[in-house]
Amino acid sequence: MHSNYVRIFDTSLRDGEQAPGASMNTAEKLEVARALSRLGVDVIEAGFPAASPDDHAAVRAIAAEVGVVPTEGRPQHEPPIICGLARCTRGDIEAAWSAVQGARHPRIHTFLATSDIHLEHKLRISRPEMVARAVEGVRFARSLCEDVEFSPEDAGRTHPAFLHEVLGEVIKAGATTLNIPDTVGYTLPDEFGALITGILSHTPGARDVTISVHCHDDLGLALANSLSGLRAGARQAEVTVNGIGERAGNASLEELVMALRTRAAVLGLETGIDTRQLCRASRLVSRCTSYPVPPNKAVVGANAFAHESGIHQDGMLKNARTYEIMRPEDVGAAQTTLILGKHSGRHAFSRRLAELGWPLEGSQLDRAFADFKVLADRKKSVHDADLAALASQESSAPPEFWALEHLLVACGTGGIATATVRLRGPDGTSHVHPAVGDGPVDAVFTAIAAVVQTPVELLEFNVHAVTGGIDALGEVSVRVRQGDARPAHGHGADTDIVVASARAYLAAINALLARQPAAAVPQLAAAA
Ligand code: KIV
Ligand code: ZN
Repeated sequence: MHSNYVRIFDTSLRDGEQAPGASMNTAEKLEVARALSRLGVDVIEAGFPAASPDDHAAVRAIAAEVGVVPTEGRPQHEPPIICGLARCTRGDIEAAWSAVQGARHPRIHTFLATSDIHLEHKLRISRPEMVARAVEGVRFARSLCEDVEFSPEDAGRTHPAFLHEVLGEVIKAGATTLNIPDTVGYTLPDEFGALITGILSHTPGARDVTISVHCHDDLGLALANSLSGLRAGARQAEVTVNGIGERAGNASLEELVMALRTRAAVLGLETGIDTRQLCRASRLVSRCTSYPVPPNKAVVGANAFAHESGIHQDGMLKNARTYEIMRPEDVGAAQTTLILGKHSGRHAFSRRLAELGWPLEGSQLDRAFADFKVLADRKKSVHDADLAALASQESSAPPEFWALEHLLVACGTGGIATATVRLRGPDGTSHVHPAVGDGPVDAVFTAIAAVVQTPVELLEFNVHAVTGGIDALGEVSVRVRQGDARPAHGHGADTDIVVASARAYLAAINALLARQPAAAVPQLAAAA
């Protein structure tokens, strides 16, 4: 590997998933992992296997599929390293190993805090005890797996001399990557760079292992700190798609990769990322986590390449480089207008979807094509973004226990809204129910709830327009919960946002039902 190659370690499925409300189910995690592999990510941190049986199952499934399938476009077509996180305990390390060992390139990532504040108040152990536990954990991990990463949690607030001592000991115990987390996003860029320089110069053996950076964004400095660490000699960056993660999140993958690429002449560093897939990956992670991407988000936001002011537009028309430092097509944000219309056939539709990175087949393609025909009838121009919304709705759609057949809504000012829904149930028969509500969406949700008889609490409801214009496709995402169980989310897209809302709500309910054994759900048991 070149000395200027930076490994991209994506932790969207672990640190990213720790963001409040961002949890994903196994099908969603697998879909994100496939996208990360196609993107060319070197290491996928697939989860924290000891955290729950679901986490363990998801990491195992990713290791068994994404961790063994060579993906075209990846360096040497090798599958990515699949990594599982573990505290420095035998139980956690065994859980991580049993989850990742199916991968061709498995990694165990173990961590223990090193800052005085964490040692005194959280772990209540002395520095020597910390070192002993770290060494024991790394040695045990190394007895199971060749590739072991160690993180001194809260390294950013750790006394440098103690940090060098710990790192020197874990290198002797067999650690192959040392990850330096600024866990609470406290450091400034020059401080973080100096921390990495200090580690490389004062830790015996540090130049024979990979030094990694892991920066949180509490002060909005995660990207700057990560770049500073890479300039000081780190050669792995831990990042998340859209910058999701604990509290203010982690350094964002797309920003880091595009900063390295756009300023390569100054930084002299490269990655193996296929940047043309960045927007697609961003969109997928946004949908699976229900975290919307702000329009002004760097690189992948809807406005990242939009020019509103007359002066800017004038400059753009004369030469795009006057106001664009990156080309939209290089991040997969090309806005092609009117690609397909209502006369387009299924073949052209599926080919365009594949070009956009959504290779749908079989019944998923059938449903997406049917939706496209309806959309093309209603909308003057169908944009790539519309197609991506239709395709993404299908690609991880849960089994359709309940499907929307018909919806009628009456609403207006100063009165209550009424809705009547007709749903096709798991047994194939149609069920009709009317309801009233505070507004059209409330009325529709009440009517759906009355039919499906699966009591759920609505935790979140987001609407956004996929493209501009009065006929824009509206995309709705909802998050619902049943009792104390893990929340489920659903997505729907339609030119009518009430229909999109109904679809999203049903998708979330279907996702909840998919988790339950058929016998526990009266309607499913009856249909079986
Ligand atoms: O931020 C952090 O310290 C972490 C570690 C587990 C690497 O996420
Ligand atoms: Zn973190």
